[in-house]
Amino acid sequence: MRTTVGIIGAGPAGLLLARLLHTAGIASVVLEGRDRGHVEGRQRAGILEQGTVDVLRAAGAGERLDREGLRHDGIELRFARRRHRVDFPGLTGGRSVWVYAQTEVCKDLIALQLAEGGPLLFEAPALAVEDAATDRPRVRFRQGGTEDVLECDYVVGCDGFWGVARRAVPAGSARVFERTYPYGWLGILADAPPSHHELVYARHDRGFALLSMRSPSVSRLYLQVPEGTDAGEWADEEIWDELTRRFETGDGWTLERGPVTQKSVTPMRSYVHEPMRHGRLFLAGDAAHIVPPTGAKGLNLAVGDVVTLARALVHERDTGSATLLDAYSATCLRRVWQAERFSYDMTGLLHRAPGATPFEDRIQLARLERIASCRAAETDLAEAYTGFPFG
Ligand code: FAD
Ligand code: DHB
Repeated sequence: MRTTVGIIGAGPAGLLLARLLHTAGIASVVLEGRDRGHVEGRQRAGILEQGTVDVLRAAGAGERLDREGLRHDGIELRFARRRHRVDFPGLTGGRSVWVYAQTEVCKDLIALQLAEGGPLLFEAPALAVEDAATDRPRVRFRQGGTEDVLECDYVVGCDGFWGVARRAVPAGSARVFERTYPYGWLGILADAPPSHHELVYARHDRGFALLSMRSPSVSRLYLQVPEGTDAGEWADEEIWDELTRRFETGDGWTLERGPVTQKSVTPMRSYVHEPMRHGRLFLAGDAAHIVPPTGAKGLNLAVGDVVTLARALVHERDTGSATLLDAYSATCLRRVWQAERFSYDMTGLLHRAPGATPFEDRIQLARLERIASCRAAETDLAEAYTGFPFG
C-alpha cells in the first residue's frame, strides 16, 4: 500500500490530522491498533479550549459539538472551605472553554473520515517505522493475521505515549525531559446531575478533588489518590464520602450522588521528547509529550500539533518549500513547554504531596489567595486555561 502521509493512531491527533489533510486535498492512510468500539469508548479528556473548538468547526466537525457541547465561562477554585470563581471571558477578552468529551470528538471525526476521507484501518497495529531518515519512509503493520507495508512520503506518529513511532528515533538524536508524580487521579463517571454549573478544582488537606461533567445528567469526578492505587480498592460510597469531605464549603453547598458507571485510575506524568521530528517521521500529541491532567491540556496540545503540521504539509505541497516542516518541532515545543509549565504549576498548586509540611500547605493557600485577590495572577491562570495560541 502507498500513500502521501501515513498516520499511526486514531486518537484525536491522528483523526484530526487525517481530516485536515483530506480537506486540503492531501492523501493519507490511518492505521489504528484497536477496534472502533474501543477508540470511541475510551473515557479521557473532557475540556476543549476555544482554539480547539474553532479548529473542529472549521474542519466540518463542529455540528454536534455546537448542539451538545456546553460552553463554560469560568471555573471555581475551592480552598479552606471558600469558593472563588475565575471569570474567563472577563479576564481574557472573551475566551471560553467547552465541555465536550474526547469520546465524542473521536466519534465525530471517525464518522467523517469513514464517510468522506481516505482509508482508516482499525485493528491494524503498526509494528515499526522504517527508513525514517530517507525519502521513502515505511510503516510495517499487521492486519487480519498478515503483515503488510505502508509506503509514504511522510509518517506521523500519533500513537500516544505507548506507541511504536517514537522508537524509530535513535537515542542519540533525541532528548527526553520527564517527571513523575507520587499520586494519581481516581476518576468516576456517575449518573448524577453536576452539583455545580461549572468545574470545581478543590485543594484540601486530604488531597485534590475535581468536579466536572459530561452532560446535564452525567457527572465526572476525580480524587487524588496515592500512586499505584487500584480503582477496585475504593467502594463507591467511600468515593462519594471522600469527595464530599474535599468539596466541603462553609455555605451549605451539597454534592449530588448517583450510580457510578465507570471507575479508573490515571497515573500522572510530565514528559517531553525533543525534537518532535526525525527525518520524515513527525511525532504529534501524546506520542511526543504528556502533561499531568490538572488544567486539561493533553487533548488541546495534540490539536495544536496537528494544525501546525497540516499547515506545514500544505505549504510544502503548494510552494515546494520545507521551511514550515523544518520549523514544526520548534514551533510546537514553544506551546508545549508553556502547557507543561501550566500543568505542573496547577498540579503543585492543588495536590497534597505525601509528607507535605505545614509550611508547604500555607504556601499553597497563599498562592490560591493571591489568585483570588490579584487580577494579574488570576488573568495569568485564565489565559493559560483557555489556551495559548497555536504556533
Ligand atoms: P491517544 O488518544 O493516546 O491516541 C493514540 C492512538 O494510537 C490510540 O487510539 C491507540 O490505540 C493508537 N495506537 C497506539 N499504538 C499503536 C500502534 N502501534 N499502531 C496503531 N495504533 C496505535 N487529558 C485531559 O486533558 N484530561 C483528562 O482527564 C485526561 N485523562 C486521561 C486519561 C488517560 C488514561 C490517558 C491515557 C490520557 C488522558 N488525558 C487527559 C490526555 C488526553 O486524553 C490525551 O492527551 C489525548 O488522548 C492525546 O491524543 P493523541 O491522539 O495524541 O493520543
Ligand atoms: C476533565 C479533565 C481534566 O483533566 C480537567 O482539568 C478538567 C476536566 C474532565 O475529564 O472532564
